[in-house]
Amino acid sequence: MRKPIIAGNWKMNKTPSEARQLVQELAPLVADAQCDVVVCTPAVDFAAVSEAIRGTNIKLGAQNVHWKESGAYTGELSAAMLKEAGCEYVVIGHSERRQYFGETDETVNLRTRAAVAAGLTPIICVGEKREQREAGYTDTLVAYQTLTALTGLTAEQVAKVVIAYEPVWAIGTGLTATDEQANETIGVIREAVRSAYGDAADEVRIQYGGSMNPKNAHGLMLQPQIDGGLIGGASLKAEDFSKVVHFE
Ligand code: PGA
Repeated sequence: MRKPIIAGNWKMNKTPSEARQLVQELAPLVADAQCDVVVCTPAVDFAAVSEAIRGTNIKLGAQNVHWKESGAYTGELSAAMLKEAGCEYVVIGHSERRQYFGETDETVNLRTRAAVAAGLTPIICVGEKREQREAGYTDTLVAYQTLTALTGLTAEQVAKVVIAYEPVWAIGTGLTATDEQANETIGVIREAVRSAYGDAADEVRIQYGGSMNPKNAHGLMLQPQIDGGLIGGASLKAEDFSKVVHFE
């Protein structure tokens, strides 16, 4: 059985003092969680958050990573930097990075390989835009995004990554994929993984993301293919996020 993983993606929210407060509120609320609990914070919050999560079951994640070990890449962070700052996870290829910052499937792959090589668990985001779903090529697209992101990894490595299926039209819009839509597309992603990596497909954890909240988490999490959630807006309040963690 795959252990569910609920990750908060804070995006560009929370200063270090706000971050510390949120995590301090969250820790007792999720202490009994049956799933893995992760908060992916802005890099300036790493110090405050890694101190505040010490001794708790909350893990720290970053929102991006560069593929080079070091060098003249102004504004970027290496996997080793993230590791030393206390990160265990890193979001890669979020649709906002793809849309606003020119992220491509190729750079998503480079970042994924660097994260895995450094011992970070990537949370690789894939998902279609509304017009792509309407045109009927969601399945082809998410399979392509997934397999391109994973290129160069071994089946053992693939088994340990996390994939987040995030339909772009559902992110921050209040529109959620139906439980069945999310389950079906995540099933397509899993079969794409199987086609290239065999049984690793049964181990890889695939989250749903896109306006997941305390109200819809329960239904989504009942679906057999869905192994967790990547939570934006609802991860910014301790009580809401803890309710998602408990699938209520
Ligand atoms: P949302 O964001 O929950 O606010 O829709 C999800 C995400 O972008 O990961």
